[in-house]
Amino acid sequence: MIRFHNVKKRFGEREILKGVDLHILPSKTTVIFGVSGGGKSTIIKHIVGLLKADSGSIIVDGEDITELDERNMRRVRQKIGFLFQSGALFDSMNVFENIAFPLREHRKDITQKELDFSIHESLSLVGLKKDILKLFPHELSGGMRKRVGLARTIVMKPKIILYDEPTSGLDPVSSDLITQMIRHLQDELGVTSVLISHDIKESFKSGDYFAMLFNGKIVDYGNEYFFQTSSNPIIKQFLSGSSKGPIKFGK
Ligand SMILES: Nc1ncnc2c1ncn2[C@@H]1O[C@H](COP(=O)(O)OP(=O)(O)OP(=O)(O)O)[C@@H](O)[C@H]1O
Ligand SMILES: [Mg+2]
Repeated sequence: MIRFHNVKKRFGEREILKGVDLHILPSKTTVIFGVSGGGKSTIIKHIVGLLKADSGSIIVDGEDITELDERNMRRVRQKIGFLFQSGALFDSMNVFENIAFPLREHRKDITQKELDFSIHESLSLVGLKKDILKLFPHELSGGMRKRVGLARTIVMKPKIILYDEPTSGLDPVSSDLITQMIRHLQDELGVTSVLISHDIKESFKSGDYFAMLFNGKIVDYGNEYFFQTSSNPIIKQFLSGSSKGPIKFGK
């Protein structure tokens, strides 16, 4: 569904992606592991065209997006739901208007009835009740905000969903709810998911495949068994959370 081939990206003097190769299989969840500041969000932003690669190619659903103009990129972007790291709800809009936003943007001819139906459907998919529709983001808990963000992401019925740290800052029970929702969406809608998470336990519950980003490259890729039994010192250190090993603080 998504393929990176030798993707490089630098910000000023610093080369963050140094030749990333990555395959994201359809209707599966692929987790990208890596240290803070390593370039995980940067990878995800390339998939939606928020950042342009310096070199290499990125194929999304059969099209090389590095070659596309803005109009065609917008068309590709409609297949993709992006749950931002910050949740990013619009503070001045209530829950209904937040979820309605992408539908109003992309489907100018939508009727009120269709809008109501879609919003109730996506709200129930993320396990929220409709009595919160009139509330504003500041009246919601962190976990509810993440779920409303997720409802807004899925209301467009995307083929691909990119989750940038969907469980960060949540308690273990709320994290588990989000994780189950990710799995549920994959099973129910057959979406292809890319997940970035520092939460290793939750990642193994939601992911099918795992990729380790280190020093600007994907250094290893495989299923849970492959990762759990890996002898690669980078993966061993990451999974054990030790400060001793090839991963150095601040790198
Ligand atoms: N638009 C930008 N301009 C300049 N530097 C950037 C930009 N976006 C990211 N960076 C830099 O690229 C590096 C990687 O950032 P990125 O957000 O991809 O990391 P990350 O792996 O998602 O980290 P975290 O786990 O903390 O979210 C950081 O050093 C960051 O400062
Ligand atoms: Mg990030």
